[in-house]
Amino acid sequence: MTSPDDEPTHATPLTAEEPEGLIPSHVTLRRELNELEQQNIIDADTWAFNRRHNPLSERFLRGLHRRMFGKVWRWAGHCRTSNKNIGVDRQQIPIGLHEAVSNVLYWIEHNTFPADEVAVRFHHALVFVHPFPNGNGRWSRLAADILTARLGRRRFTWGRSSLRTVGETRRVYIEALKTADNHDFTALIAFARS
Ligand SMILES: Nc1ncnc2c1ncn2[C@@H]1O[C@H](COP(=O)(O)OP(=O)(O)OP(=O)(O)O)[C@@H](O)[C@H]1O
Ligand SMILES: [Mg+2]
Repeated sequence: MTSPDDEPTHATPLTAEEPEGLIPSHVTLRRELNELEQQNIIDADTWAFNRRHNPLSERFLRGLHRRMFGKVWRWAGHCRTSNKNIGVDRQQIPIGLHEAVSNVLYWIEHNTFPADEVAVRFHHALVFVHPFPNGNGRWSRLAADILTARLGRRRFTWGRSSLRTVGETRRVYIEALKTADNHDFTALIAFARS
């Protein structure tokens, strides 16, 4: 896990090879990289909410990551090939994604949980797997937004301020994720709607 002093943008440490995947060659500052990623994600957002897509297909989920980060990172949409301090073993990624999707399909079919809870559990499961070298938080929150919208709810607000800068919102979010690791989703649902 990261120390409290780490910049959130460094929350997933890149391995030595991963910076080589950067597509724009002129980027030297973290801030420039953040802006490029942000613009790429804004473009992906409109595409993502198109009702033609099935948010519970594994193909869509990989494609979503590619759309969000594909103008910036060559590895966008490709699963990580190294292990991280967060996430399942790299060899468990495909089965982890498959399980996350299967569980959601089961919950919807059996009305196990309210729509928001289904979507928040989906976010948690996806970020727990941590399929990609980076961008897992933003990707899995957007996936949950799409799912909750598809289930007839408004998209989540996720604390209404940037989760990517150090601060109270980020702290509350990470705490809620850890509580959810222990199968209690109350705090994470409340956070997603805050
Ligand atoms: N202890 C933790 N510290 C940081 N992130 C965590 C932790 N536990 C789970 N996470 C999740 O992992 C995400 C960070 O993973 P990653 O860096 O791949 O995503 P990201 O979209 O680039 O987000 P970030 O802006 O946080 O770097 C967080 O947004 C959060 O959802
Ligand atoms: Mg990151």
